[in-house]
Amino acid sequence: MVFPLNRQRRFRRTPALRKLFAETSFSASDLVAPLFAIDGKNLAEPIMSMPGVLRYSVDNLIRETEEIYKLGIPAVLIFGVPEKTTALRRKRSKEQFENALYDENGLVQKAVREIKRAIPEIIVMTDVCLCSYTSHGHCGILRNQKSESRSKKKKFNSCQSPIYYEIDNDKTIDILAKIALSHAEAGADIVAPSSMMDGQVKYIREALDGKNFQNTMLMSYSVKYASNFYTPFREAANSKPAFGDRKSYQLDFRNVREALREVESDINEGADIIMVKPAMAYLDVLKEIKNNFNTPLAAYSVSGEYSMVKAASANGWLNEKEVAMEIASSIKRAGADLLITYWAKCLAEWIK
Ligand code: PBG
Repeated sequence: MVFPLNRQRRFRRTPALRKLFAETSFSASDLVAPLFAIDGKNLAEPIMSMPGVLRYSVDNLIRETEEIYKLGIPAVLIFGVPEKTTALRRKRSKEQFENALYDENGLVQKAVREIKRAIPEIIVMTDVCLCSYTSHGHCGILRNQKSESRSKKKKFNSCQSPIYYEIDNDKTIDILAKIALSHAEAGADIVAPSSMMDGQVKYIREALDGKNFQNTMLMSYSVKYASNFYTPFREAANSKPAFGDRKSYQLDFRNVREALREVESDINEGADIIMVKPAMAYLDVLKEIKNNFNTPLAAYSVSGEYSMVKAASANGWLNEKEVAMEIASSIKRAGADLLITYWAKCLAEWIK
């Protein structure tokens, strides 16, 4: 008996067949566009480390958001990049510093209010963190100021790397809750705590509910790895740690069960949406979470994923469009419901 060849290629013979049998697709409605807000008027600052991404003053941010919305993208994620970040802490008292984070006329609060006024339909998400505001660039409050200067000195004369600084988790979550509440008051639909402090979801949920913001959603950067792929972003957001690293609060990239524990704990604390970040190097993590939890899952394709493709494409080593489409499809295939990406506008245009 002669067996016919098993002809799998039948499925791929024509574009129509490939379309019919495609297992994954994404549309503009799955995308979230990250945006950097700065103080000032009529500004659009290029970011060297992220070609094609700009920092906008609020007036231009509105124009950009209008374009995003017209492309069918339902949501933006706002990052505030305050002016002279490093001077902020030194010049101001502790109270002034904290107020800058949750002042109703703060940069993010203003951006949110004005975007919602101009385009009420768009979903506005806000990143809730301290790293663009602290002089040291860490995502939380240092346990005491003395340890800050000591750790700076130690950086230059010590071969070991003992911990000379410590982030005060519980002080930080108090502040994060105030920031998130101020974003909600400004009109944010979804607040997204990204500092990886324990209890941040619980504190924020309680603060929101306490002021009748039961409908404000909470997207937790639950699974945020201590990743080298964030480097380009830190130039964009002026948030590079002045010393040390984020390994004592962000996840170890060797771990996946630890990620599942973070997810479980955030869901128990009331997170509506879970996020994995970065995306491309963590597709196994996405898939594992998808298989174990039913909470909507977001993936953040971060600055490094974007910029390395940009750099290679600038050299003619790959085709940016084809690669970006492939990356987005892979992230969807692994199980992401939402995709936060710097290619949001491009992807929406390419798939039109
Ligand atoms: C703030 C924050 C970071 C990113 C998003 N929110 C940087 C960091 O943790 O250092 C990275 C985003 C990107 O690389 O695109 N904590």
